Amino acid sequence: MNLFRTKPIDSIAEENSSLKRCLGAADVTFMGIGAIIGAGIFVLTGVVAATHAGPAVVLSYVVSGLACVFVALSYAELAASVGGCGSAYGYAYAGLGEIIAWAIGWDLLLEYGLGISTVAIGWSGYVNNALSAIGIPLPEMLTKSPFEGGYINLPATLIILLLTGLLCIGVRESARFNVAIVFVKLLAIGLFISVAAFHTNLDNWKVFMPFGWNGVMHGAALVFFAYIGFDAVSTAAEETIKPQRDLPIGIILSLAICTVIYIIVSALLTLVVPYTSLNVSSPVANVLLQLGKPTAAAFIAAGAIAGLTTVMLVLYYGFSRIFLAIARDGLLPARFARVHPKAKTPVTVLVMSGFFLATVAGFTPIGQLAELVNIGTLAAFTVVCGGVIVLRRKQPNLNRPFKLALHPVFPILGILFCGYLMLSLPAITWLRFVGWMAIGFLIYFGYGKKHSKLAGDDNYAVRMREAVE
Ligand code: ALA
Repeated sequence: MNLFRTKPIDSIAEENSSLKRCLGAADVTFMGIGAIIGAGIFVLTGVVAATHAGPAVVLSYVVSGLACVFVALSYAELAASVGGCGSAYGYAYAGLGEIIAWAIGWDLLLEYGLGISTVAIGWSGYVNNALSAIGIPLPEMLTKSPFEGGYINLPATLIILLLTGLLCIGVRESARFNVAIVFVKLLAIGLFISVAAFHTNLDNWKVFMPFGWNGVMHGAALVFFAYIGFDAVSTAAEETIKPQRDLPIGIILSLAICTVIYIIVSALLTLVVPYTSLNVSSPVANVLLQLGKPTAAAFIAAGAIAGLTTVMLVLYYGFSRIFLAIARDGLLPARFARVHPKAKTPVTVLVMSGFFLATVAGFTPIGQLAELVNIGTLAAFTVVCGGVIVLRRKQPNLNRPFKLALHPVFPILGILFCGYLMLSLPAITWLRFVGWMAIGFLIYFGYGKKHSKLAGDDNYAVRMREAVE
């Protein structure tokens, strides 16, 4: 797989399935794990344990994971039956009509775009610690946003600009490279588990829920970030050999593996050290330092840095794919997504988004960004679950190679869980989210509605399906 492969927007419009089909079930599962394990487990677990949930962060992971199970099943059904590279945007188009589809597409750009900035801040934390460990620490003011007492988080800004540059010149990541990095990441986590397992102290769980159930739920709404990424698997529909079979496998398996890992790691983190000591920028490595294991800590930091880099790349891939899908349908100007004649990459959209996301990463604290990403993603997930119910009614004869069980109970549970998590987020996050959506609707009514190529198309699902077959 070319992780970042772009085609001229026109040729995508004409020839939906022209991307090379080379991914199997194992590839997409690895792609999922590559996208899922990142700043959530490596950074946010510590923040959430220390400031929201205490050791009960493990319950936060269970609640969030449960929500994701129902959503993943819904995704699996839609990815197999509707397909297309636009993910929830495409499914919403098929089931709920253009305006909802636009809202979700706009929402997904928030998820994937700001997700990159969030992970970049996590990446920066591990890089700063590595630099300190080898005796060349950066001045503290250049490693924190103004909200945390610094000037700018410089490494976070720079890594996004660097990735943008690489993507502009057409650097591609292969499936094999992705598999290698996923192994490094899993090895790092395996090492943490095997060291930490021998240093647990049940006293650290004496006060298990210091912030009450509200803390657990606010924590769940934050660590939800750790699960984001299984949905990115669905954007590879056009490059998967047997999408109807392999996408459901990839989505569900990658989520299941990561859920188990998260529950073990979060339990161990809080069993090994007091939760109050976890509010640091690289908690997983830091715990091993506290245990007097600097070599293991260094290995974990290296694994985290490599792993977080691939998460950013997968999110960038998803971002570009969704942008292309929206522009293909005329709701965003195609000229933004046009490929550069020499570089063969969509330089305009990459540069514009790259500068914006780099600025956001430099000046915002990780927790606030993660909350905004999460509320957007949860909204999109709610619509995906709703889409399953509506599409079963509207297109009862659509070929569904994967059907989720207990319909409509599971999608309804997905909606309820996601809604509950959204309600657990603070008012300021809601305000920012509403602001983002308001800008989106201005763009839709000012541009998209007039330029839509699909207005009134009731057969989107069937067409996308045919394109994928
Ligand atoms: N789930 C991804 C992470 O935790 C986005 O970094």
